[in-house]
Amino acid sequence: MVDLVSNATLDRTTFTTSRLLEFFSEKELSMQIGHERPLWPLAVVKELIDNALDACESAGVSPEVEVVLAADFVSVRDNGPGIPPATLERSLDYLVRVSDKQYYISPTRGQLGNALKCVWAAPYVATGEQAHVEVIAGGVRHDVTVRLSRIAQRPELSYDVSPDGFVRNGTFVKVDWPGIAGYLSSGIPQLLRAYGVFNPHASFTYRDACRDWIGTVEPTTPGWRKWAPSDPTSPHWYNLAQLRALVGAYVSDERNGGRARTVREFVSEFKGLAGTAKQKQVTDGAGLSGAYLHDLVTDDDVDPDRAAALLAAMQAESRAPKPGALGVLGEAHLTKYMVDRNWVASDSVKYKKVEGAARGLPFILEVAFGVSPEDDAMREVVVGLNWTPALKPPIRELMTLLGQQRIDPHDPVVVIVHLACPVMQFADRGKGVLDLLRED
Ligand SMILES: Nc1ncnc2c1ncn2[C@@H]1O[C@H](COP(=O)(O)OP(=O)(O)OP(=O)(O)O)[C@@H](O)[C@H]1O
Ligand SMILES: [Mg+2]
Repeated sequence: MVDLVSNATLDRTTFTTSRLLEFFSEKELSMQIGHERPLWPLAVVKELIDNALDACESAGVSPEVEVVLAADFVSVRDNGPGIPPATLERSLDYLVRVSDKQYYISPTRGQLGNALKCVWAAPYVATGEQAHVEVIAGGVRHDVTVRLSRIAQRPELSYDVSPDGFVRNGTFVKVDWPGIAGYLSSGIPQLLRAYGVFNPHASFTYRDACRDWIGTVEPTTPGWRKWAPSDPTSPHWYNLAQLRALVGAYVSDERNGGRARTVREFVSEFKGLAGTAKQKQVTDGAGLSGAYLHDLVTDDDVDPDRAAALLAAMQAESRAPKPGALGVLGEAHLTKYMVDRNWVASDSVKYKKVEGAARGLPFILEVAFGVSPEDDAMREVVVGLNWTPALKPPIRELMTLLGQQRIDPHDPVVVIVHLACPVMQFADRGKGVLDLLRED
C-alpha cells in the first residue's frame, strides 16, 4: 500500500553554482558559437581564420593563412603580428571579454571578444575529455589545458609558457580534438573557397594530413585594400550610446593602471581628425579644451551631455566616409575568381553593386551570379558579411527572394552576396543571423 502520510521529507540544500559552468555546457556554448554542436569544429576554424585576417590587416601585411587538418587536430597559422601574450592570458578569464575591437565601430570581422573563449571550451564540451590548445607566437609557446572541476564547480584552465623556435612570425594555433577530421575534411575546402571570394588580397593553403592533400587559394588582387582594423574609425559611425561606451572603456582602462588620455588624443584617433587644428576645433567646440577623458565622467558614468557635445563636434569637423571606402570586392575579382575555378561559365556572370546608407551607416551590397558549366551542379549561395563567409544563411529574406526569382535548389547556379557595413546587427550572440529590422 502506498504510504500517503509519510514523515520523510527532503531537507533541500540551497547550492551555489558558478556561472562559469554555463559557458561549458552544450546549450550555452551553442548560443555563444551561434551553431549546434556538429558545426562547432568548422565555426572554430572560421573564428581562427577571422582573427588571422584581422591581425594581418592591422599590421598591414598581405594575409597568408595556412590550415592543417589531421585525424585529431586542426591548426591555423598566419603571418600577422602575433597575438600578444597578455591578450591570450586574459582571454582565459571567462568573466571578462577581451578584444581590441569590441568598443570601436568599424567593419572588422571580429567584434565581440568571445571567440577565443569558445575555442578553449569547444573541444572539451564536445568530447568531454581534457582538452588542449597550443598557441605559438613571438617565439613563445602557450599550452592551454581545460578540464572541469565538479567540486570547485568551475572549469580549470591551466596555462603553461615555454620558449619555442618553431613560429617566429605570426600566430600558430593548434586545437587538439579527437576525431575532428571526420567533421572537417569536406567543410574546410568549401570554407576556404568562400574566404577567397571575400578576400581578393589573401592567400590560403590547406593541408589535409589524412588524405595527403594540399589545396591553395591564391589572391586575385594582391594589393587590394579595404577598411583595415588599424584604420581610424569615423565619428559618423557612432551613436551616443556607442561613444559613451568607448569613452567609458578608456576611462576604465585608466583606472586599471592604463594611461590617462586627453580628449584631444582621443579625438586624434578618429578619421579626419588627426590634424592638430581639427583637434583644437573639436575640443573648443565641445567645451572640452585641455580636458582629459576622465573629465567627461560625472556620477561615475560618462556624462551624456558632454559626450553628446563631443560627438556632435567630431561629426561637424569630419566628413562621413563614402560607402566605397569600406572596400569593394568588385566585378573583376568576383568574375575572375568564379571563372578561374570553373565554378561558373565566363559569359554567364552578372554583377551588381549597391552603395548606400541605412540607419545612418554606410553599406555596400555586392551580388554576383553565374551559371555552372556542369549540368548536374546544384545551386550554391555563398554569403559574406564584412569579408568573412557565413556558415548558415545570415539574411533570412534572401532565400525567399531567390525563390521569387525562380532560383531553386536544383538550379546549377552560383549566387554570391556580400554586405559590408561598420555595424552588423545580429539577432544572436554567435554572429549568425542578421537582424535587418532591429532599430538601435
Ligand atoms: N591570430 C591573431 N593574431 C593577433 N592577435 C590575435 C589573433 N587572434 C586573436 N588575437 C587578439 O585576441 C583578441 C581576442 O580574440 P577573439 O577572437 O576572442 O575576439 P575578437 O576577434 O576581438 O572578437 P570576436 O569574438 O567577435 O571574434 C583579438 O581582439 C585580438 O586582439
Ligand atoms: Mg575573433
